[in-house]
Amino acid sequence: MTRYAHISGWGMAVPERVLTNHDLEQIVDATDEWIVSRTGIRERRIADKTETTASLGTKAALRALQGTDVKAADIDLIIVATCSPEYVFPATASIIQDNIGASQAGAFDLSAACTGFIFALNMAAQSVRSGNIDKALVIGSETMSRVVNYEDRNTAILFGDGAGAFLVEGRVEPGGVLSCVMRSDGSGGDLLSIPAGGSYMPTTPETVANNMHFIQMNGREVFRFATRVVAAATRDAVDDAGIALEDVSLIVPHQANIRIIEAAARGLKMPLERFAINVDKYGNTSTASIPMAFCEAWDQGRIRTGDNLVLVGFGGGLSWGAMALQMTMPERVITKVDRRRSRRIRTLARVRSMSRRVGRRVESLIFRTNAKA
Ligand code: UT7
Repeated sequence: MTRYAHISGWGMAVPERVLTNHDLEQIVDATDEWIVSRTGIRERRIADKTETTASLGTKAALRALQGTDVKAADIDLIIVATCSPEYVFPATASIIQDNIGASQAGAFDLSAACTGFIFALNMAAQSVRSGNIDKALVIGSETMSRVVNYEDRNTAILFGDGAGAFLVEGRVEPGGVLSCVMRSDGSGGDLLSIPAGGSYMPTTPETVANNMHFIQMNGREVFRFATRVVAAATRDAVDDAGIALEDVSLIVPHQANIRIIEAAARGLKMPLERFAINVDKYGNTSTASIPMAFCEAWDQGRIRTGDNLVLVGFGGGLSWGAMALQMTMPERVITKVDRRRSRRIRTLARVRSMSRRVGRRVESLIFRTNAKA
């Protein structure tokens, strides 16, 4: 029986702290006027000391479960797309798995820079469609403020923190993910990277002194690449889905720069009103930007059951991709009960995690005692 991968839940989370362009004027040599006219960004959110990629991703994941009857223990797979992970390893996905008590889930991170959410969603959708799994959480989460050099005006103005998550479920009714194109061009990898901290350039006092642990970007080249690929990938995804561009009610693009979105709109001959845009409020939140733009568009009533959408992203790698999908979820109502349920899931997960840690310690003591005997 053919199975389809449906998007049945979604949620987002952003830090409270707002960093406006005017705040940035005090930090780097940039003006509000320049930033707004060249990027469309007015403000972005910045994590406080207690917030991390995993904590934001956890909040978004719990919100994605709200309004559904899916329990954390029902989830088979968690994929976190991120370029600001909690650690090199373990995977941020494993930390979120523990934070929500998804006892039956495999969890891993996916690295494809800002395109990561689309690639991760496609991997989850294919696993669901194959029948290998039934329910997956796909999360894009970032604390870009931890990898941005606030002395580099080229990048400091662009990036912000946040997280978005989708719940993917297998069903026999048609709909959900219709197609996905995934593309990469590693010859442009040096255009957008964090050079130090990997096997090529391990962290040393010198790499830190030279700011090599921060994002380095050739903005102009990335801009040129982005304006070329967004419209083309959107068309490919629409063709593969067997629908026409006119059938697509909303494009949800990666939020990097309003001028890139405007170029895509021109390339597709579509009015800007058919694009989800919130880059002005959050800047570029990398892997989180597409699910966050989706969540806000849904809240504004811009997405309805039965609508065809295209999610389209691009970024470091170079990488780019687009996914066509049909929304099948009926009106989703989130109540106080859902919010209480999220708190309960988190509390139970804490207890579960603690008991597993204690259990592991007891086991190791018994093992040591037995080994000595
Ligand atoms: O998720 C994917 C990640 N990255 C992107 O999507 C980034 C794509 N690139 C961009 O969005 C744009 O290239 C930027 C916003 C980064 C830069 O905009 P631009 O229109 O391409 O500016 P530019 O780099 O061509 O620079 C134009 C001028 C330069 O001065 P000169 O050389 O013409 O005298 C820059 O030094 O603007 C200057 N400039 C700034 N001025 C004030 C660059 N950054 C700033 C700044 N404030 N923050």
